[in-house]
Amino acid sequence: MIDKIKEYIAEVEDFKAKSKEEIEAFRIKFSGKKGLINDFFAEFKNIANDQKKEFGQAINALKNAAEQKVKELKDEIESQEEEKGIYGDLTRPGEPIEIGARHPISLVKNKIVDIFSRIGFNVSEGPEIEDDWHNFTALNLPEYHPARDMQDTFFIQTDPDILLRTHTSSVQVRYMENKKPPIRTISPGRVYRNEAISARSHCFFHQVEGLYIDKGVSFADLKQTLQYFTTEMFGKSKIRLRPSYFPFTEPSAEVDVYWGLETETDYRMTKGTGWLEIMGCGMVDPNVLKNCGIDPEEYSGFAFGMGIDRIALLQYGISDIRMLSENDLRFLEQFKSAF
Ligand code: DAH
Repeated sequence: MIDKIKEYIAEVEDFKAKSKEEIEAFRIKFSGKKGLINDFFAEFKNIANDQKKEFGQAINALKNAAEQKVKELKDEIESQEEEKGIYGDLTRPGEPIEIGARHPISLVKNKIVDIFSRIGFNVSEGPEIEDDWHNFTALNLPEYHPARDMQDTFFIQTDPDILLRTHTSSVQVRYMENKKPPIRTISPGRVYRNEAISARSHCFFHQVEGLYIDKGVSFADLKQTLQYFTTEMFGKSKIRLRPSYFPFTEPSAEVDVYWGLETETDYRMTKGTGWLEIMGCGMVDPNVLKNCGIDPEEYSGFAFGMGIDRIALLQYGISDIRMLSENDLRFLEQFKSAF
């Protein structure tokens, strides 16, 4: 009987199959309920005691060999089928590759970064979760300064020293604390204000901050830089600087670019004046330089800050700022060809 089992083991090992049906027939013949292996097990009780051990081992070997074979053959057939699935019909058309689109905020930011990098500005970043010093105090906005109310701030409830930055001007402070002049840097990033969400304003948006510190920097340098920027950015070189107030600059100004009054949208956007306000700027207040460890007797400089979202709305004719953060693919896909 043991010899018979050994013959079967050899048969199992040599077995080859071309189809799933053949494998199944093989499985039933050996491992099925009424299969050979069960028949042998049923014989077990009739075997002389001194042969039981050898007999038992032989059936187990057959059982394992049959199971192993079925598994191998199945795996083989499955991987062949898979390959056919992938390479089967070589004449079929290629899979379409979905091309992504950059977000309009990124498009505008990249353009601004590119324009300033051409005149020697590098890019710097700072944290969105800030402390009071970098967002306010160092920027000449000490506690109880009324200008703190210009920006409604999200504070962290458990620690009034920690807040979500209200402007990217905080990066100015961090940059000056860590680097010595000459400084030419722009800092793009997201900012947060506790404002009601509407088509025109959001509780988070994006800004780009600019900072230029060196010996003998004047207001004329600022104006020239801004004019270069508006020309490159919008193709418009006519600008005007209106006196304004920011605690961190003195003197301070608001920058308007002459947009023109060619279309009805121009009328609406510029409230019929043709002028569009695009940023705040000024000469860095000596107090701010001092707070950041730079000697105002030796160095001077200018700073400016502008909102990216508004420029994106303007450039792409988007009527609602909320579209920029709703992640609606039908909206975002429209920017595929932009760069
Ligand atoms: N931080 C100002 C704001 O968020 C914008 C600004 C104005 C930045 C004047 C400046 C500046 O650097 O000089 O409204």
